[in-house]
Amino acid sequence: MDIRIFEDNQELDQAAARLIADLAKAKPDAVLGLATGSTPVGIYRSLIETAAAERVSFKRITTYNLDEYVGLTPDNEQSYAYYMNQHLFSKIDIPLNQTFLPDGMADDLDAFCAKYDRMLESARVDLQLLGLGHNGHIGFNEPDRELTAGTHVVTLDEATREANARFFASLDEVPKQAVTMGVGSILKAARILLVVRGADKAEVVKRALSGPVTTDCPASLLQLHADVTVLLDKEAASLL
Ligand code: GLP
Repeated sequence: MDIRIFEDNQELDQAAARLIADLAKAKPDAVLGLATGSTPVGIYRSLIETAAAERVSFKRITTYNLDEYVGLTPDNEQSYAYYMNQHLFSKIDIPLNQTFLPDGMADDLDAFCAKYDRMLESARVDLQLLGLGHNGHIGFNEPDRELTAGTHVVTLDEATREANARFFASLDEVPKQAVTMGVGSILKAARILLVVRGADKAEVVKRALSGPVTTDCPASLLQLHADVTVLLDKEAASLL
């Protein structure tokens, strides 16, 4: 793993944006795997600035997001579809019909998951951006005795709902389920970019990067991937 530690959060954002922008320049029809949460917000801001300054076009780029809540429509401000439009898609030149997220409103969620996997399989993600949950989740793959390889419906851990409640009016409003790419889908990306910040993630960063590979910490499976770049602020890296 290529682990890079940053003193300054803006530098971290710029480094992540640099990697994405360079890929878009080198491969104008690249396929990006994208993530949500608070961690990527600054990365997307920096990517928008870089794209404007360096005239990086996303016209032929395709994107696939990791996950989405079940039961939230794309116009719900808490949905990841809304987040992606707000933080990235509306501010770059990507055609919206080349941006894909799991559909948490699908009538038949299992059929949707199978379809999403077929799409991922034929698209082949060049670079997958990932954040890290406090419990070691990637996407919404929660710690468990077993993990699911493909896209699937997951029941969220109470700790995850509590961690994400800050985006909702109350804990009751946080959906109990989500659709997420599985760890197998994630590990199929040619390159993975894991970004983590904050002292509250130092322990889980240590478990993910240098602990045993275990389904108790889904991010530890990234140790099995041949091309992972990890960008950390110094607080998140403090226990390495
Ligand atoms: C959320 C998302 C993940 C994200 C993680 C960390 O629940 N499903 O994709 O990486 O939790 O979020 P944050 O960056 O806000 O800490």
